[in-house]
Amino acid sequence: MGLLLPIILSCLAALIAGLYVLGVFRQRRPGEPPLDKGLVPWLGHVFEFRRNTFKFLQRMKQKHGDVFTVQMGGFYFTFLQDPMSFGAFVKETREKLDFVKFAVHLVRRVFGYVAIENDHHLLEVSSNKHLKGDGLGVMTQAMMSNLQNLMLHNINSDGEQKTWIEDGLFMYCYNIVFRAGYLSLYGNVPSKSVESEEKAKEKDRAESEALFYEFRKYDQLFPNLAYGILSPKQRAEANSLMNYFWKTLSVQKIKAKDNISRWVGDMQQAREELGMEESMINKYMFLLLWASQGNTGPSSFWLLLFLMKHPEAMKAVKEEVDRLVKESGQEVKPGGPLIDLTREMLTKTPVLDSAVEETLRLTAAPLLTRAVLKDMTLKMADGREYLIREGDRLAMFPYIDVHVDPEIHPEPHSFKYDRFLNPNGTRKTDFYKAGKKVKYYTMPWGAGVSMCPGRFFATNELKQFAFLMLVYFDFELKNPDEKIPEIDFKRWGFGSMQPLNDIKFRYRLRY
Ligand code: HEM
Ligand SMILES: *[C@@H]1O[C@H](CO)[C@@H](O)[C@H](O)[C@H]1NC(C)=O
Ligand SMILES: *[C@@H]1O[C@H](CO)[C@@H](O)[C@H](O)[C@H]1NC(C)=O
Repeated sequence: MGLLLPIILSCLAALIAGLYVLGVFRQRRPGEPPLDKGLVPWLGHVFEFRRNTFKFLQRMKQKHGDVFTVQMGGFYFTFLQDPMSFGAFVKETREKLDFVKFAVHLVRRVFGYVAIENDHHLLEVSSNKHLKGDGLGVMTQAMMSNLQNLMLHNINSDGEQKTWIEDGLFMYCYNIVFRAGYLSLYGNVPSKSVESEEKAKEKDRAESEALFYEFRKYDQLFPNLAYGILSPKQRAEANSLMNYFWKTLSVQKIKAKDNISRWVGDMQQAREELGMEESMINKYMFLLLWASQGNTGPSSFWLLLFLMKHPEAMKAVKEEVDRLVKESGQEVKPGGPLIDLTREMLTKTPVLDSAVEETLRLTAAPLLTRAVLKDMTLKMADGREYLIREGDRLAMFPYIDVHVDPEIHPEPHSFKYDRFLNPNGTRKTDFYKAGKKVKYYTMPWGAGVSMCPGRFFATNELKQFAFLMLVYFDFELKNPDEKIPEIDFKRWGFGSMQPLNDIKFRYRLRY
């Protein structure tokens, strides 16, 4: 007996500690948002969330209102779903809401990169210099010359290109935009390393094609990789893909290239100066590839698809593009020089801008997450206040609350190319909910500290690609009546959405 009691007691203590860890005892305290732990201890709602984030959050919003806390995989996530109160999330200090801490785990799991303290600062510094202002001009020029290489390399080889070519629209767009973006950031094969400039360009095309092929494999594994639920076989595949990218994008290889972007170059150099091991810098190079190339390609697909499905939009954009070419004094003619879309021309495209913004409204759905570092009070726009606990997560999924809110964007599920245009042709930025102006009326790029630093470049990439398609090619859906494919629900929260299936189209050179 003397021995049994302590054993029983310690078992009991272990059990209680276990249940505690599993979150069984957590109760909603006064002043906290509604708490929904779900039925499964610790895991909570994670399965339903993963199956379809949109549907789950919509259900929770209906049940609990616009602020609630749910348990998922050992964490308590408080979702803020009132768009008028988004400022409370976006502008909270870094002492209370931290993005970096949250990102560090993910980055290690999916890219193998072990973060350092200055990572985020280095990214901001380099992005401010090279993805904005004059730096953006350089990037945009590189993008143009790489797009031309990929899309127009056989324009003067007369004959075969002028016949229709059939392809899957998603794969076609993703392929070109990915490869051109990659070459613009990571540089070109130097012409002195091969016989001629032509040979160098050919090599750029071949190497980027091989890279895209592998990238797509990784891309498809990505959602489950991020959630940590790959099968052992898939896990092995993901590992071997990572190895491939670390090698292919290695510092050694990149240093041998011409035209490497300052954005990539600076970030590599800064890490070298901090004494980071080269193998770790290689991993960061892969992280940057994914961040920079995973979204723009899919977005370019939706843009072209929406234009093809909406003749009035296609007509308006085409007119704008034709006018732009004419006003620049250029002309497309067989055998003539390629059209150059200058940075200045890119500032005079309100119709295309609106079409791009509308495309992103419908198809970019990021989940924004922060770690709560200190107990804090969430102050809502209407005066309500909620206590949020240290150690929890705070999250937003703006797609539900703004992108498809019928009050902010009437007929939210239809594509209206001029939704972001004022009647006088300027950019529309006034949107209202319950009579009040909505500041965050779309959030494809996230917001606050983690807002996409590539957003200006990404927008230019989309516009440049659409521009070249419109100027140089006829293109149409193989079956014009085919429905717009469903969105792949597994990717809610990961940025640009992808279609569940591809859609056939055909294209041919016009000149
Ligand atoms: C349509 C295209 C794009 C979309 C929709 C998009 C969207 C986003 C979003 C939503 C985030 C924030 C993620 C978060 O809060 O956790 C993000 C981050 C990021 N994006 Fe983009 N992006 C696009 C293109 C690009 C491009 C072209 C580049 C680079 C040239 C880029 C570089 C980055 C980087 C480096 C981050 C990480 C920022 C950080 O850690 O603070 N993105 N992007
Ligand atoms: C480097 O970029 C310039 C202009 O952007 C381009 O003309 C040149 O062909 C590029 N170099 C290589 C090796 O492709
Ligand atoms: C265009 O119209 C919007 C609102 O419709 C207005 O705010 C803006 O000042 C106008 N701009 C010009 C240049 O007329």
